[in-house]
Amino acid sequence: TEPLRLGIAGLGTVGIGVIKIVQKQAELLTARTGRQITITAVSARSRDKDRGVNLSKFAWEDDPVALAKRDDVDVFVELMGGSDGPAKAATEAALALGKHVVTANKAMLAVHGQALALEAEAHGVQLRFEAAVAGGIPVIKSLTESLAANQITRVMGVMNGTCNYILTRMESAGLPYETVFDEANALGYLEADPTLDVGGIDAGHKLAILASIAYGTQVDFNGIEIEGIERVSIEDIRYAGDMGYRIKLLGVAQMTGRGMESRMSPCLVPANSPLGTLEGPTNMCILEGDSVGQIVLRGAGAGEGPTASAVMGDVCDIARGINLPVFGQPSTTLRQAPAARSTVA
Ligand code: NAP
Ligand code: HSE
Repeated sequence: TEPLRLGIAGLGTVGIGVIKIVQKQAELLTARTGRQITITAVSARSRDKDRGVNLSKFAWEDDPVALAKRDDVDVFVELMGGSDGPAKAATEAALALGKHVVTANKAMLAVHGQALALEAEAHGVQLRFEAAVAGGIPVIKSLTESLAANQITRVMGVMNGTCNYILTRMESAGLPYETVFDEANALGYLEADPTLDVGGIDAGHKLAILASIAYGTQVDFNGIEIEGIERVSIEDIRYAGDMGYRIKLLGVAQMTGRGMESRMSPCLVPANSPLGTLEGPTNMCILEGDSVGQIVLRGAGAGEGPTASAVMGDVCDIARGINLPVFGQPSTTLRQAPAARSTVA
């Protein structure tokens, strides 16, 4: 069998993590997929940056679109980020040429996921994005494969590790929001634009993607009610604790009589519930289906290893020839209702 050749655009935290796995686990990947997985070309903004791995065996492209179009690239791996710009242009170029795409880019998928998925379908190729939601947690595979026989009634969870770190650290150290925000920044947790994290937008992107998959249609990101954690005070956290609750930035998308409600906001959760036990920069996704009931997935929602693990899981599926439609077709029957605020058990 021919090797599966990857072109990787973006050599930051996740891109370098992917290169390390391809190099370290070469034999295991071949044994598990039946194909050799190789990297032929890479792209980033700066060619000269020392990234701690040897890139000399890979062809270099300054332009990610040129990388996506290379004849020696079978799978375009997009790890640059940004909802539009080069990430979207290169993804579209790859799909148009009948190449599979694997991406971790939640911002792009929350806005353009449906259109890109239809483009992939039209060209008979795969668009995969397990890493875009909750990093290393296999939540998209769980929804699309393991729970395929269920009507999904609710998806919810803590999907931004930085916010969970800030809230739990405020609680455990008794420190104000501003101090812990600075700590999170020093630890490198915050996105380049921190309002994406603390404003709930990053988590909102992830909820839009999960809800789109769960309910088989593109959920309008702008229709999701989003409130961040900037206004949560140490007093709020203490009062919640006195009543046996903790505050979490919680995303919920559920079917109700008014249609699908979706919101991302600080919520009270019982301290002794699974969500109430979540500490530090971790994620938890809770999926509810009519046959399976409730399942809880917990783990690392970010970082080099966990996120690259999810990217490579998608690459392995493509190497095995697994062909999965992930988003459903646009639906005219699903009503997206404005969300009502409530406490979630
Ligand atoms: P990052 O560390 O900031 O790396 C981004 C990379 O993209 C850099 O190598 C950068 O080049 C390159 N890049 C940016 N703009 C480019 C352009 N116009 N042309 C060519 N290259 C360009 O980002 P990351 O943390 O690895 O995240 C990558 C993607 O994964 C994003 O979509 C992010 O949301 C998603 N994600 C990340 C995590 C995580 O834990 N980090 C978790 C889940 C999902 P230079 O290095 O030369 O500047
Ligand atoms: N900034 C994100 C988080 C990274 O803190 O969860 C992973 O998507």
